[in-house]
Amino acid sequence: MRQLPGGGLADLLRAGVPAGTVNLAVGTPAFPDTPKELVDAACAALRSGVHQYQDPAGVPALRERIAAGLPGSPDPATELTVTVGGSEGLCVALLAAVDPGDEVIVLEPFYENFLSAVALAGGRLRPVPLREPDWSPDLTELTAAFGPRTRAIILNSPSNPTGQLLDRLHLEWLADQCRKWDVTVISDEVYAGYVYDGQHCSVADVPGLAERSIVVGSFSKSHAVSGWRLGYLRARPEWTDLLRQIHVATTAGAPAPLQHAAAAVDLFRAERWDPSAAMRERRDSTVEMLREAGFRCAVPAGGCYVMAAIDGLTDEPSHSFVRTLAAETGVLVAPATPFFADPRRGERHVRVAFNRPADTLDTARQRLRAQARRCPGLSHSSQEGEPA
Ligand SMILES: Cc1ncc(COP(=O)(O)O)c(C=O)c1O
Repeated sequence: MRQLPGGGLADLLRAGVPAGTVNLAVGTPAFPDTPKELVDAACAALRSGVHQYQDPAGVPALRERIAAGLPGSPDPATELTVTVGGSEGLCVALLAAVDPGDEVIVLEPFYENFLSAVALAGGRLRPVPLREPDWSPDLTELTAAFGPRTRAIILNSPSNPTGQLLDRLHLEWLADQCRKWDVTVISDEVYAGYVYDGQHCSVADVPGLAERSIVVGSFSKSHAVSGWRLGYLRARPEWTDLLRQIHVATTAGAPAPLQHAAAAVDLFRAERWDPSAAMRERRDSTVEMLREAGFRCAVPAGGCYVMAAIDGLTDEPSHSFVRTLAAETGVLVAPATPFFADPRRGERHVRVAFNRPADTLDTARQRLRAQARRCPGLSHSSQEGEPA
Protein backbone atom coordinates (compact mmCIF):
# COMPACT_ATOMS: atom_id res chain seq x y z
CA MET A 1 0.00 0.00 0.00
CA ARG A 2 1.18 3.53 -0.78
CA GLN A 3 2.46 5.58 2.14
CA LEU A 4 2.33 9.36 2.32
CA PRO A 5 5.00 11.30 4.20
CA GLY A 6 4.11 13.88 6.84
CA GLY A 7 1.43 13.74 9.52
CA GLY A 8 3.89 14.09 12.41
CA LEU A 9 1.83 16.67 14.21
CA ALA A 10 -1.35 14.63 13.86
CA ASP A 11 0.50 11.71 15.47
CA LEU A 12 1.41 13.95 18.38
CA LEU A 13 -2.24 14.84 18.83
CA ARG A 14 -3.40 11.26 18.58
CA ALA A 15 -1.21 10.49 21.59
CA GLY A 16 -3.68 12.68 23.54
CA VAL A 17 -3.25 15.83 25.58
CA PRO A 18 -3.85 15.51 29.35
CA ALA A 19 -6.71 17.64 30.72
CA GLY A 20 -5.50 21.03 31.87
CA THR A 21 -2.63 21.19 29.39
CA VAL A 22 -2.13 24.56 27.74
CA ASN A 23 -1.91 23.42 24.15
CA LEU A 24 0.23 25.75 22.08
CA ALA A 25 1.23 22.93 19.73
CA VAL A 26 -1.47 23.10 17.10
CA GLY A 27 -2.65 25.99 14.97
CA THR A 28 -6.34 25.35 15.65
CA PRO A 29 -7.58 28.85 16.44
CA ALA A 30 -8.75 29.72 19.95
CA PHE A 31 -8.40 33.39 18.99
CA PRO A 32 -9.90 35.42 17.40
CA ASP A 33 -13.41 34.41 18.38
CA THR A 34 -15.45 33.11 15.47
CA PRO A 35 -17.52 36.14 14.34
CA LYS A 36 -21.06 35.88 15.70
CA GLU A 37 -22.48 37.19 12.40
CA LEU A 38 -20.99 34.18 10.63
CA VAL A 39 -22.50 31.73 13.09
CA ASP A 40 -25.92 33.40 12.82
CA ALA A 41 -25.68 33.37 9.03
CA ALA A 42 -24.79 29.65 9.04
CA CYS A 43 -27.84 28.82 11.18
CA ALA A 44 -30.00 30.94 8.87
CA ALA A 45 -28.63 29.24 5.76
CA LEU A 46 -29.39 25.79 7.15
CA ARG A 47 -32.88 26.81 8.23
CA SER A 48 -33.59 28.36 4.85
CA GLY A 49 -33.04 24.98 3.21
CA VAL A 50 -29.59 25.19 1.65
CA HIS A 51 -28.76 21.49 1.77
CA GLN A 52 -27.90 20.39 -1.75
CA TYR A 53 -25.06 20.56 -4.27
CA GLN A 54 -24.27 23.98 -5.64
CA ASP A 55 -21.98 25.29 -8.35
CA PRO A 56 -18.75 23.38 -7.61
CA ALA A 57 -16.69 26.49 -8.41
CA GLY A 58 -18.29 28.07 -5.35
CA VAL A 59 -21.39 30.09 -4.54
CA PRO A 60 -21.05 33.13 -6.86
CA ALA A 61 -21.88 35.62 -4.10
CA LEU A 62 -19.05 34.22 -1.98
CA ARG A 63 -16.60 34.43 -4.86
CA GLU A 64 -17.59 38.09 -5.22
CA ARG A 65 -16.96 38.70 -1.51
CA ILE A 66 -13.57 37.00 -1.73
CA ALA A 67 -12.63 39.01 -4.82
CA ALA A 68 -13.53 42.26 -3.02
CA GLY A 69 -10.98 41.46 -0.29
CA LEU A 70 -8.07 40.62 -2.63
CA PRO A 71 -5.55 42.89 -4.31
CA GLY A 72 -5.87 43.42 -8.05
CA SER A 73 -9.62 42.62 -8.29
CA PRO A 74 -9.64 39.05 -9.61
CA ASP A 75 -12.63 38.10 -11.76
CA PRO A 76 -14.82 35.94 -9.50
CA ALA A 77 -16.36 34.21 -12.52
CA THR A 78 -13.11 33.01 -14.09
CA GLU A 79 -10.29 33.39 -11.56
CA LEU A 80 -11.60 32.19 -8.20
CA THR A 81 -12.64 28.73 -7.01
CA VAL A 82 -13.97 28.00 -3.52
CA THR A 83 -12.26 24.92 -2.07
CA VAL A 84 -12.58 22.66 0.94
CA GLY A 85 -10.11 24.70 2.94
CA GLY A 86 -6.65 25.69 1.88
CA SER A 87 -5.69 22.01 2.24
CA GLU A 88 -7.77 20.94 -0.71
CA GLY A 89 -6.65 24.03 -2.61
CA LEU A 90 -3.02 23.09 -2.10
CA CYS A 91 -3.54 19.51 -3.30
CA VAL A 92 -5.59 20.62 -6.31
CA ALA A 93 -2.92 23.19 -7.26
CA LEU A 94 -0.17 20.58 -7.07
CA LEU A 95 -2.18 17.98 -8.98
CA ALA A 96 -2.76 20.61 -11.68
CA ALA A 97 0.81 21.86 -11.92
CA VAL A 98 3.00 18.81 -11.29
CA ASP A 99 3.51 15.56 -13.18
CA PRO A 100 4.99 12.52 -11.46
CA GLY A 101 8.76 12.91 -11.13
CA ASP A 102 8.76 16.72 -11.41
CA GLU A 103 10.72 18.65 -8.81
CA VAL A 104 8.94 21.02 -6.48
CA ILE A 105 11.03 23.55 -4.56
CA VAL A 106 10.00 24.30 -0.98
CA LEU A 107 11.63 26.62 1.53
CA GLU A 108 12.46 24.58 4.63
CA PRO A 109 11.15 24.60 7.35
CA PHE A 110 7.71 24.41 5.73
CA TYR A 111 4.08 23.68 6.60
CA GLU A 112 4.04 19.93 7.07
CA ASN A 113 1.21 19.24 4.60
CA PHE A 114 3.47 20.40 1.76
CA LEU A 115 5.19 17.02 2.13
CA SER A 116 2.05 14.94 1.67
CA ALA A 117 0.55 17.22 -1.00
CA VAL A 118 3.69 17.07 -3.15
CA ALA A 119 3.85 13.29 -2.69
CA LEU A 120 0.17 12.94 -3.66
CA ALA A 121 0.93 14.64 -6.97
CA GLY A 122 3.94 12.36 -7.48
CA GLY A 123 6.34 15.30 -7.22
CA ARG A 124 9.86 15.19 -5.81
CA LEU A 125 10.54 17.61 -3.02
CA ARG A 126 13.55 19.91 -3.39
CA PRO A 127 13.97 21.60 0.00
CA VAL A 128 16.00 24.79 0.20
CA PRO A 129 17.10 25.51 3.78
CA LEU A 130 16.21 28.77 5.49
CA ARG A 131 18.43 29.83 8.33
CA GLU A 132 18.14 31.71 11.55
CA PRO A 133 17.97 34.37 12.75
CA ASP A 134 15.40 35.66 10.26
CA TRP A 135 14.69 32.52 8.19
CA SER A 136 14.92 34.43 4.92
CA PRO A 137 16.08 32.62 1.78
CA ASP A 138 19.67 32.64 0.63
CA LEU A 139 19.33 33.62 -3.02
CA THR A 140 22.47 31.74 -4.06
CA GLU A 141 21.13 28.50 -2.62
CA LEU A 142 17.72 29.17 -4.10
CA THR A 143 19.19 29.87 -7.55
CA ALA A 144 21.07 26.57 -7.38
CA ALA A 145 17.81 24.69 -6.68
CA PHE A 146 16.20 25.75 -9.97
CA GLY A 147 16.89 23.58 -13.01
CA PRO A 148 15.31 21.81 -15.96
CA ARG A 149 13.44 19.36 -13.70
CA THR A 150 11.87 22.11 -11.58
CA ARG A 151 8.16 22.33 -12.31
CA ALA A 152 6.86 24.30 -9.33
CA ILE A 153 7.86 26.22 -6.24
CA ILE A 154 5.67 26.48 -3.14
CA LEU A 155 5.82 29.81 -1.34
CA ASN A 156 4.20 30.51 2.02
CA SER A 157 4.27 34.11 3.20
CA PRO A 158 3.76 34.74 6.07
CA SER A 159 5.20 31.33 6.78
CA ASN A 160 4.05 28.51 8.96
CA PRO A 161 6.19 27.74 11.00
CA THR A 162 8.65 30.70 10.95
CA GLY A 163 6.41 33.75 10.39
CA GLN A 164 8.88 34.95 7.78
CA LEU A 165 7.64 37.27 5.01
CA LEU A 166 8.72 37.34 1.38
CA ASP A 167 8.91 40.96 0.32
CA ARG A 168 8.37 42.43 -3.13
CA LEU A 169 12.11 42.31 -3.95
CA HIS A 170 12.23 38.58 -3.18
CA LEU A 171 9.17 38.03 -5.36
CA GLU A 172 10.50 40.10 -8.26
CA TRP A 173 13.72 38.14 -8.12
CA LEU A 174 11.70 34.90 -8.09
CA ALA A 175 9.70 36.09 -11.11
CA ASP A 176 12.94 36.14 -13.13
CA GLN A 177 13.94 32.64 -11.97
CA CYS A 178 10.50 31.22 -12.64
CA ARG A 179 10.39 32.78 -16.10
CA LYS A 180 13.86 31.41 -16.89
CA TRP A 181 12.93 27.83 -15.93
CA ASP A 182 9.19 28.04 -16.77
CA VAL A 183 8.17 27.23 -13.22
CA THR A 184 4.67 27.50 -11.71
CA VAL A 185 4.33 29.25 -8.36
CA ILE A 186 1.95 27.86 -5.76
CA SER A 187 1.63 30.62 -3.21
CA ASP A 188 0.07 29.68 0.10
CA GLU A 189 -1.18 32.99 1.47
CA VAL A 190 -3.52 31.69 4.16
CA TYR A 191 -1.89 33.98 6.77
CA ALA A 192 -2.01 37.14 4.62
CA GLY A 193 -4.27 38.86 7.18
CA TYR A 194 -1.71 38.41 9.95
CA VAL A 195 1.22 40.68 9.12
CA TYR A 196 2.79 42.68 11.96
CA ASP A 197 6.01 44.09 10.53
CA GLY A 198 6.23 45.14 6.90
CA GLN A 199 3.48 44.46 4.40
CA HIS A 200 2.04 41.39 2.80
CA CYS A 201 2.82 41.22 -0.90
CA SER A 202 0.76 38.71 -2.87
CA VAL A 203 2.33 37.00 -5.88
CA ALA A 204 -0.83 38.10 -7.69
CA ASP A 205 0.47 41.66 -7.31
CA VAL A 206 3.83 41.05 -8.96
CA PRO A 207 3.95 41.32 -12.75
CA GLY A 208 5.75 38.33 -14.22
CA LEU A 209 4.79 36.17 -11.25
CA ALA A 210 1.02 36.74 -11.20
CA GLU A 211 0.49 35.02 -14.58
CA ARG A 212 2.30 31.86 -13.53
CA SER A 213 0.90 31.67 -10.00
CA ILE A 214 -1.84 29.81 -8.18
CA VAL A 215 -2.71 31.49 -4.88
CA VAL A 216 -4.10 29.40 -2.02
CA GLY A 217 -6.30 31.19 0.53
CA SER A 218 -8.34 30.10 3.55
CA PHE A 219 -10.69 31.42 6.23
CA SER A 220 -9.69 28.78 8.78
CA LYS A 221 -7.33 31.00 10.76
CA SER A 222 -8.38 34.48 9.65
CA HIS A 223 -11.98 33.98 10.82
CA ALA A 224 -11.47 31.08 13.24
CA VAL A 225 -13.60 28.65 11.25
CA SER A 226 -11.10 25.84 10.68
CA GLY A 227 -13.90 23.27 10.91
CA TRP A 228 -15.98 24.94 8.22
CA ARG A 229 -13.46 23.93 5.57
CA LEU A 230 -13.61 27.04 3.41
CA GLY A 231 -10.70 28.17 1.28
CA TYR A 232 -10.10 29.30 -2.27
CA LEU A 233 -7.79 29.21 -5.25
CA ARG A 234 -6.95 32.24 -7.33
CA ALA A 235 -5.42 31.76 -10.77
CA ARG A 236 -5.70 33.06 -14.31
CA PRO A 237 -8.66 31.63 -16.27
CA GLU A 238 -6.74 28.87 -18.13
CA TRP A 239 -5.42 27.49 -14.85
CA THR A 240 -8.79 27.98 -13.17
CA ASP A 241 -10.48 25.71 -15.76
CA LEU A 242 -8.13 22.88 -14.87
CA LEU A 243 -8.24 23.58 -11.13
CA ARG A 244 -12.03 23.38 -11.21
CA GLN A 245 -11.95 20.04 -13.06
CA ILE A 246 -9.70 18.56 -10.38
CA HIS A 247 -11.77 20.17 -7.63
CA VAL A 248 -14.93 18.55 -9.06
CA ALA A 249 -13.15 15.19 -9.20
CA THR A 250 -11.90 15.43 -5.62
CA THR A 251 -14.75 17.04 -3.66
CA ALA A 252 -17.49 18.38 -5.98
CA GLY A 253 -17.58 21.54 -3.88
CA ALA A 254 -17.18 23.07 -0.44
CA PRO A 255 -20.07 22.91 2.11
CA ALA A 256 -22.95 24.85 0.53
CA PRO A 257 -24.69 26.27 3.64
CA LEU A 258 -21.39 27.53 5.03
CA GLN A 259 -20.54 29.17 1.72
CA HIS A 260 -23.91 30.95 1.81
CA ALA A 261 -23.21 32.03 5.37
CA ALA A 262 -19.82 33.46 4.44
CA ALA A 263 -21.38 35.21 1.46
CA ALA A 264 -24.07 36.78 3.65
CA VAL A 265 -21.64 38.74 5.82
CA ASP A 266 -19.20 41.41 4.73
CA LEU A 267 -16.20 40.17 6.67
CA PHE A 268 -13.57 39.55 4.03
CA ARG A 269 -12.26 43.09 3.67
CA ALA A 270 -9.69 44.36 6.17
CA GLU A 271 -11.89 47.45 6.78
CA ARG A 272 -14.57 45.14 8.18
CA TRP A 273 -12.57 42.44 9.95
CA ASP A 274 -8.99 42.82 11.10
CA PRO A 275 -7.84 41.00 14.23
CA SER A 276 -4.17 41.61 13.37
CA ALA A 277 -3.53 44.26 16.07
CA ALA A 278 -4.73 41.86 18.77
CA MET A 279 -2.67 39.08 17.22
CA ARG A 280 0.41 41.31 17.24
CA GLU A 281 0.00 41.73 21.03
CA ARG A 282 -0.11 37.96 21.35
CA ARG A 283 2.96 37.59 19.18
CA ASP A 284 4.85 40.06 21.36
CA SER A 285 3.83 38.45 24.64
CA THR A 286 4.67 34.98 23.29
CA VAL A 287 8.14 36.05 22.18
CA GLU A 288 8.70 37.63 25.62
CA MET A 289 7.46 34.49 27.37
CA LEU A 290 9.76 32.25 25.36
CA ARG A 291 12.85 34.42 25.74
CA GLU A 292 12.25 34.76 29.47
CA ALA A 293 12.08 30.94 29.70
CA GLY A 294 15.40 30.54 27.89
CA PHE A 295 14.27 29.79 24.35
CA ARG A 296 16.00 31.66 21.52
CA CYS A 297 13.73 33.07 18.83
CA ALA A 298 13.38 35.79 16.23
CA VAL A 299 10.25 37.93 16.23
CA PRO A 300 7.99 36.55 13.47
CA ALA A 301 6.87 39.25 11.02
CA GLY A 302 3.52 37.53 10.48
CA GLY A 303 1.42 34.38 10.95
CA CYS A 304 0.40 32.61 14.15
CA TYR A 305 3.61 30.89 15.25
CA VAL A 306 7.02 31.42 16.80
CA MET A 307 9.83 29.06 15.84
CA ALA A 308 12.10 28.82 18.87
CA ALA A 309 15.49 27.18 19.40
CA ILE A 310 15.92 24.97 22.46
CA ASP A 311 19.70 24.67 22.48
CA GLY A 312 20.13 26.96 25.50
CA LEU A 313 17.72 24.78 27.49
CA THR A 314 18.37 21.15 26.83
CA ASP A 315 20.37 18.54 24.97
CA GLU A 316 17.23 16.51 24.40
CA PRO A 317 15.91 16.32 20.84
CA SER A 318 12.77 18.38 20.34
CA HIS A 319 10.44 15.40 19.93
CA SER A 320 11.21 14.25 23.49
CA PHE A 321 11.79 17.73 24.93
CA VAL A 322 8.17 18.67 24.17
CA ARG A 323 6.98 15.67 26.21
CA THR A 324 9.26 16.55 29.09
CA LEU A 325 8.13 20.16 29.00
CA ALA A 326 4.45 19.15 28.92
CA ALA A 327 4.92 16.75 31.85
CA GLU A 328 6.79 19.28 33.95
CA THR A 329 4.87 22.45 33.14
CA GLY A 330 1.57 21.47 31.54
CA VAL A 331 2.50 23.53 28.46
CA LEU A 332 2.54 21.66 25.15
CA VAL A 333 4.45 23.01 22.17
CA ALA A 334 5.14 21.30 18.85
CA PRO A 335 8.45 19.68 17.99
CA ALA A 336 9.83 21.24 14.80
CA THR A 337 10.57 17.83 13.26
CA PRO A 338 7.41 17.67 11.06
CA PHE A 339 8.45 20.90 9.31
CA PHE A 340 11.58 19.43 7.76
CA ALA A 341 11.98 16.88 4.97
CA ASP A 342 14.53 15.16 7.19
CA PRO A 343 13.02 15.32 10.70
CA ARG A 344 16.49 15.29 12.26
CA ARG A 345 16.95 18.86 11.05
CA GLY A 346 14.08 19.95 13.32
CA GLU A 347 15.43 18.49 16.55
CA ARG A 348 16.81 21.77 17.92
CA HIS A 349 13.58 23.77 17.56
CA VAL A 350 9.97 23.86 18.65
CA ARG A 351 6.98 25.74 17.22
CA VAL A 352 4.64 27.70 19.45
CA ALA A 353 1.16 28.82 18.29
CA PHE A 354 -0.09 32.16 19.64
CA ASN A 355 -3.59 32.37 18.16
CA ARG A 356 -4.92 31.98 21.67
CA PRO A 357 -6.83 34.11 24.22
CA ALA A 358 -4.56 36.40 26.25
CA ASP A 359 -5.32 34.52 29.49
CA THR A 360 -4.24 31.21 27.93
CA LEU A 361 -0.90 32.75 27.02
CA ASP A 362 -0.65 34.26 30.53
CA THR A 363 -1.20 30.84 32.08
CA ALA A 364 1.53 29.37 29.88
CA ARG A 365 3.87 32.14 30.95
CA GLN A 366 3.20 31.61 34.66
CA ARG A 367 3.79 27.89 34.30
CA LEU A 368 7.06 28.33 32.46
CA ARG A 369 8.17 30.90 35.06
CA ALA A 370 7.31 28.58 37.94
CA GLN A 371 9.24 25.78 36.31
CA ALA A 372 12.24 28.03 35.64
CA ARG A 373 12.28 28.91 39.36
CA ARG A 374 12.07 25.25 40.37
CA CYS A 375 14.56 24.07 37.82
CA PRO A 376 16.62 26.55 35.81
CA GLY A 377 17.09 25.00 32.39
CA LEU A 378 13.47 23.80 32.37
CA SER A 379 13.88 20.26 31.15
CA HIS A 380 17.07 18.98 32.71
CA SER A 381 15.36 16.90 35.36
CA SER A 382 13.76 14.41 32.94
CA GLN A 383 15.26 11.88 30.61
CA GLU A 384 14.08 10.90 27.16
CA GLY A 385 11.55 8.09 27.34
CA GLU A 386 9.81 9.17 30.55
CA PRO A 387 6.05 9.30 30.15
CA ALA A 388 4.65 12.72 29.24
C1 LIG B 1 0.48 27.31 5.72
C2 LIG B 1 -0.84 26.63 5.76
N1 LIG B 1 -1.47 26.38 4.60
C3 LIG B 1 -2.64 25.76 4.55
C4 LIG B 1 -3.28 25.37 5.71
C5 LIG B 1 -4.58 24.63 5.59
O1 LIG B 1 -5.62 25.32 6.09
P1 LIG B 1 -7.13 24.88 5.89
O2 LIG B 1 -7.18 23.62 5.12
O3 LIG B 1 -7.70 24.72 7.25
O4 LIG B 1 -7.74 26.01 5.16
C6 LIG B 1 -2.67 25.61 6.94
C7 LIG B 1 -3.29 25.16 8.20
O5 LIG B 1 -2.70 25.14 9.24
C8 LIG B 1 -1.42 26.26 6.96
O6 LIG B 1 -0.77 26.51 8.10
